[in-house]
Amino acid sequence: MYVCVCNAITEDDVHGCMASGCATAKAVKAACGFKPGCGMCTKRIYTMVSQYRTANELADALTGGPLALTAVPEPSPGAGPGAPAPAVPSGPAAAETAVIEGAAPQTAA
Ligand code: FES
Repeated sequence: MYVCVCNAITEDDVHGCMASGCATAKAVKAACGFKPGCGMCTKRIYTMVSQYRTANELADALTGGPLALTAVPEPSPGAGPGAPAPAVPSGPAAAETAVIEGAAPQTAA
């Protein structure tokens, strides 16, 4: 749905701007390429930004604040896209020792 008919700005455009970091109506207007027009949309944009900020504040209060970024663990040596695949046992001996999780134990009849 259009928020600003004069500039052809939709609700999705405004939500996208807010999701990408615009925290004020002025920033949203700048990011959307808003040009002065009739002004009928100004209250709607302010309301959308206010609701978005309120929702974010509520989410932060419920979750204890924005999550902190954590360091990405270092890959173990030898692991990675170019590393050789681990050896998989094969042959009759491997078949005898294979265990299927959740399967009932087999007994000889
Ligand atoms: S509807 Fe946005 S300036 Fe006219």
